[in-house]
Amino acid sequence: MLRPQLSRGGVSLARMAAASTRASASAARVCNGFQKTERKMCIETSKRNFVNPLRQASTFSNVTSNSQVFVSAAEPDDKAAMLKIHWGDSKTDLYPFIWLRDNCQCPQCFESSSRSRKLLLQDLPRDVHPIAVEVPKDGRSVSLSWSDGHSSVFSSSWLHRRAFNSSSRNQRLGDIKLKKILWDAAKMKDLPQANFSDLLANDKALLRFLQEVEELGLCIVKEAPTKSGQLERLTKRIGHLKRTHYGLTFTVKVKANANNLAYTEKSLNLHVDQPHLEDKPGVQLLHCISQYEGHGGDNLLVDSFCVAEKLREVHPEKFKLLTDTLVDFYDIGVEDGIKFHAINQEPTINLDKSGEIKTVSFNNMVRDSHFGCQAEQTWAWYDAMMNYHDLLSDPQFAITYKMSAGDIIVFDNNRVLHGRKGFQMTGGERHLEGGYWDWDEVRSRRRVLMAESDLN
Ligand code: OGA
Ligand code: ZN
Ligand code: ZN
Repeated sequence: MLRPQLSRGGVSLARMAAASTRASASAARVCNGFQKTERKMCIETSKRNFVNPLRQASTFSNVTSNSQVFVSAAEPDDKAAMLKIHWGDSKTDLYPFIWLRDNCQCPQCFESSSRSRKLLLQDLPRDVHPIAVEVPKDGRSVSLSWSDGHSSVFSSSWLHRRAFNSSSRNQRLGDIKLKKILWDAAKMKDLPQANFSDLLANDKALLRFLQEVEELGLCIVKEAPTKSGQLERLTKRIGHLKRTHYGLTFTVKVKANANNLAYTEKSLNLHVDQPHLEDKPGVQLLHCISQYEGHGGDNLLVDSFCVAEKLREVHPEKFKLLTDTLVDFYDIGVEDGIKFHAINQEPTINLDKSGEIKTVSFNNMVRDSHFGCQAEQTWAWYDAMMNYHDLLSDPQFAITYKMSAGDIIVFDNNRVLHGRKGFQMTGGERHLEGGYWDWDEVRSRRRVLMAESDLN
């Protein structure tokens, strides 16, 4: 592994070194894949109102009208310690007494300016129950007098949005994270795109862009000025760039006597960036300031979740090995005089409690030689990884896109793997500027924009 010692004008040599160690036999296989496919995406820069058909297929709806919600009756069930609410549409929901008392919205229990609970757990009686329940004629609220002498009023719409049922829970889950729309090469024939100036000026365009990045994991921003500093301008519309030990942004350029792969004209194997961080960057941005004009320099992009689902279907035992086996990733170096030594352990395919894929950590270049796998299991793990890698590189799943100057590729670094086709140093300078966002910031901005668009 190369150890970066220099930094030039904010350029992250350390980061490049991480990429440099990725020179591998498998990179050649990716290159072959490129040559075989040669399906360069042609994007018209003038398509400002592009709506990706994949997104239109999304079933997610952020709008719930609560204006018609009213309570027709409410009665306590003391045995179950729950309040039964009868809605105007004859449906019913049960609300635990302890939850209702805990969530009293009065100024004594809840600070509205900071939206924080003031009521302390030690002041919440375990056996709390209502001694009187009242529903006014208009059915817009429910009033409760409690056994501890307190009283609460809840609005019907507030209660309805928090109902203990699956539809309310699903609505909430849809707000927390948009449902992912998985794609293969055929489905991603037209790449989703947005226009740089529109994103700076128009909230609707920005919302649609953030939705695409969350659902499809990918969007190409067109017509950004071809000079450094544009990632900062776009980021001002979202939140903050995520700083890593390589700085706020990094530069990808070929340089003479480069000591790392990304600083050369060589191909880069499919990878996620910085899997050696436990809190790895959620979203990656690569701004093309100038592109290599000859043959090569294209990026390879693949939806690793879609491919993992294929692996789960055809080789469930290999899929399981990749979800169960922890892989070590590491990165050691110096940036701006500060030494770093990052280590993270993650399975290649990381599942959530319900078995859905949460993240994929695939980077053959910074995968450590330290490996906690049982010796007897190790061959089978390699076999599974090779199967996964073969599928990831397959033209059925992977697409190539050659950025034009002014493009910014924005993609989900937990999901969309990226690579680069090699090129010769005879076709002009290739210059990219990269940066990262955290998913928390991106989703937060998307929720704010969604709420505002609901109001308008
Ligand atoms: C990297 C990288 C892509 C490119 O530096 O990690 O993925 O197109 N670069 O140069
Ligand atoms: Zn209260
Ligand atoms: Zn990369």
